[in-house]
Amino acid sequence: MSGLTGIVACETAISSIENGVLRYRGYTIDDLATKATFEEIIYLLWYGRLPNRLELTALKQDLLESAVLPKKIYDLLHLYEPWGNAMAKLRTCVSFLTHFDDEVMDHSFAADHRKAIRIMARMAAIVAAIERIRTDLEPIEPDAIQFTSLAEMFLWLLKGEKPEPLAAKALDVCLVLHAEHELNASTFASRVTVSTMSDIYSGIVSAIGTLKGPLHGNANEQVANMLEDIGDISRVEEYIAGKIARKERIMGFGHRVYKHGDPRAKYLKELAKELGEWRGDTRWYDMSAKIEQLVFAKKGLMPNVDFYSASVYTYLGIPRDLFTLIFAISRTSGWMAHILEQHDNNKLIRPRAQYIGKKHDQWLPIEDR
Ligand code: ACO
Repeated sequence: MSGLTGIVACETAISSIENGVLRYRGYTIDDLATKATFEEIIYLLWYGRLPNRLELTALKQDLLESAVLPKKIYDLLHLYEPWGNAMAKLRTCVSFLTHFDDEVMDHSFAADHRKAIRIMARMAAIVAAIERIRTDLEPIEPDAIQFTSLAEMFLWLLKGEKPEPLAAKALDVCLVLHAEHELNASTFASRVTVSTMSDIYSGIVSAIGTLKGPLHGNANEQVANMLEDIGDISRVEEYIAGKIARKERIMGFGHRVYKHGDPRAKYLKELAKELGEWRGDTRWYDMSAKIEQLVFAKKGLMPNVDFYSASVYTYLGIPRDLFTLIFAISRTSGWMAHILEQHDNNKLIRPRAQYIGKKHDQWLPIEDR
């Protein structure tokens, strides 16, 4: 029961993990990683089926038009210290967005879906603006550029120039792979929050706060720190042996559900290799592949989704402390699907706790304590 391991806490038709196979709405992650775009995934997760061409075009249009941020978000971003925690900035910004949405407390199906689109599109614009404002660059407004996908929009808003097609495609695959993962900690947090019939924004804020931890979404940043610490493939063996001897956790390895490998990891590994070769520097990929080999040989642990993401995002030129924010952009599609599902057939989530404290104690007046 510790950590609710193995406890089934709700029914869902959004995704499943059975015998190590991850499916979104019945489609295997292998099919989705190689064939789907992130916008198709959003539609699939929210509406329960793949979109036809017209439906996909309409969703993309809605997303791209909704990405424009209220001006006061930029004012808020200017108030932050440049060195402040980026996930905390994102969390506050999403909370702040609530004040610009007059449908916040309308829980109807139509209003919930409109809000889902607004939040989904704006998250990417906020993350790019966080980076530009903290580095004294002018933020770019989404309606000032022409783009065809959220991945392309994000990289463009971040870097100030149209991304290479390979970079936009690689990020799109990452967004597909991170979009949804059953009842992980952040998704559970979002469902608990909205089960009180609180609003969608509160559900996403709870989820961001939960994803922020190093045992969950922040492991990707910790992997990058580790790779930087190691620095060179010649140091990998000694470094990993030291960590194992000190019984320290090796970030990006192990998983609560997958005990024989995370099915998403191999796609990120392939991407890391391809991007490293494209950049003409496979050092991080090479170190990662060696770490994978050693950790499996010595601990029997396999990489999870966060391990090779660290190299992929680094090759895409994304600052390290934004890795978890990109995870959040992608996972918003899954969080949102769960929030919509929860609101569709709501029952307050309120488990019980096993009391293990003292049975009886005598009240003492304050002067006698
Ligand atoms: N490095 C070293 N040892 C590990 C690791 C690891 N990454 N993961 C698990 N173990 C060991 C534990 O020390 C423990 O050993 P013990 O029984 O001798 O004490 C055993 O494996 C079981 O570990 P638990 O933490 O009990 O297993 P749990 O299912 O709770 O762990 C978790 C899952 C938290 C993800 C864990 O594997 C971990 O801490 N990994 C590193 C952090 C990480 O990569 N998180 C991202 C997960 S994916 C995601 O959230 C998107």
